[in-house]
Amino acid sequence: MKVKLWATLSANGNYAQSSAENPPKKEALDDFAAHVREAGNFIVGRRTFEFFRAGGGAGFSGIDIVVVSKGVTEIPGVKVAKSPQEALDYLRDKGHATALVSGGADLHNAFLGAGLADELIFNVAPVLEGKGLNLLADTERYRFEAVELVDCKPLGGGVVQLRYAVA
Ligand SMILES: NC(=O)c1ccc[n+]([C@@H]2O[C@H](COP(=O)([O-])OP(=O)(O)OC[C@H]3O[C@@H](n4cnc5c(N)ncnc54)[C@H](OP(=O)(O)O)[C@@H]3O)[C@@H](O)[C@H]2O)c1
Repeated sequence: MKVKLWATLSANGNYAQSSAENPPKKEALDDFAAHVREAGNFIVGRRTFEFFRAGGGAGFSGIDIVVVSKGVTEIPGVKVAKSPQEALDYLRDKGHATALVSGGADLHNAFLGAGLADELIFNVAPVLEGKGLNLLADTERYRFEAVELVDCKPLGGGVVQLRYAVA
């Protein structure tokens, strides 16, 4: 099963955060919805899922949603997994060819740190963010990880998509 990590970055390279005052760009959201439809699933960190649910969480009927949490064991309507690997095992057992990892930063860093991502999809939004979150492939050591650029395209609204294959 191919594991795709999808994230929006700010133009100054932060892991973009959103809020009611600072909503995501429509083009990035439309792109996310297209990737979800293609994969038929998404894996999400418990905190991001809480934001998603508080915002109504509509539009994903028929989609397998897996929430990753150490502390919560059950959430009605979705699968809860205790770890990234358990989330992947669940989707693989259900026959999915692709798993889409939608964030937030903690969860993306857990996948990157464990070497579980095969493809990175970064949508760079035309915003400069102050103090922000980061993608940290390794929280202990400073190291470079070579990735291969496989596609690059504008999505409209000033959003540019970069796709990388992870060796
Ligand atoms: N830029 C983007 O594309 C993007 C996408 C999504 C969200 N966001 C932003 O990201 C922020 C939220 O991200 P976040 O980092 O605070 O939280 P998060 O990654 O959404 O959720 C963190 C929680 O997920 C669970 N978790 C994470 N790693 C785990 C692991 N290895 N094993 C088991 N459980 C694990 C834990 O849940 P428990 O505490 O329940 O154990 C943890 O507290 C928001 O600001 C949101 O706007 C940005």
